[in-house]
Amino acid sequence: RAEEVWLIIGVAILVISMAITGYQAFALDMGTPSGLETIDPQKVDETAPFDKPGVYKTGDNEYEVVMTLQIFSFTPMDIEIPAGAKVTFVMTSKDVVHGFQVAGTNLNAMVTPGHIQRATQKFDEAGEYLVLCNEYCGAGHQMMSTTITVK
Ligand code: CUA
Repeated sequence: RAEEVWLIIGVAILVISMAITGYQAFALDMGTPSGLETIDPQKVDETAPFDKPGVYKTGDNEYEVVMTLQIFSFTPMDIEIPAGAKVTFVMTSKDVVHGFQVAGTNLNAMVTPGHIQRATQKFDEAGEYLVLCNEYCGAGHQMMSTTITVK
């Protein structure tokens, strides 16, 4: 009798803990707005919106920058936006893990192949912002940079 009760309790605990783990994985997947959207890294060039990288106006001084990262460059290069613009970067990597860091701002994101990364930043001050890859991605890593010009 006692053994049976303990067996049932043991099985019940196991089932409940598995259910919790499963739910957490599900909830995380649903609840995180960025980083978990997936994309086939082999087909970035054919997958919207990355088939047309560029700077798009989406509202009143709001922009979306669709960007691919690849060894050892950012596409598009040399972005220009007006001062005060709120910019959402939608990014993915075509090969290895890269970083997207904008000097002089808090923008700092990891861009991994197979995932879509989003980051939003408002650029109030005019100037030239240096964009750097801050994840070691190979022999040309140090050269992987571009600029965002705000004017
Ligand atoms: Cu790309 Cu380092």
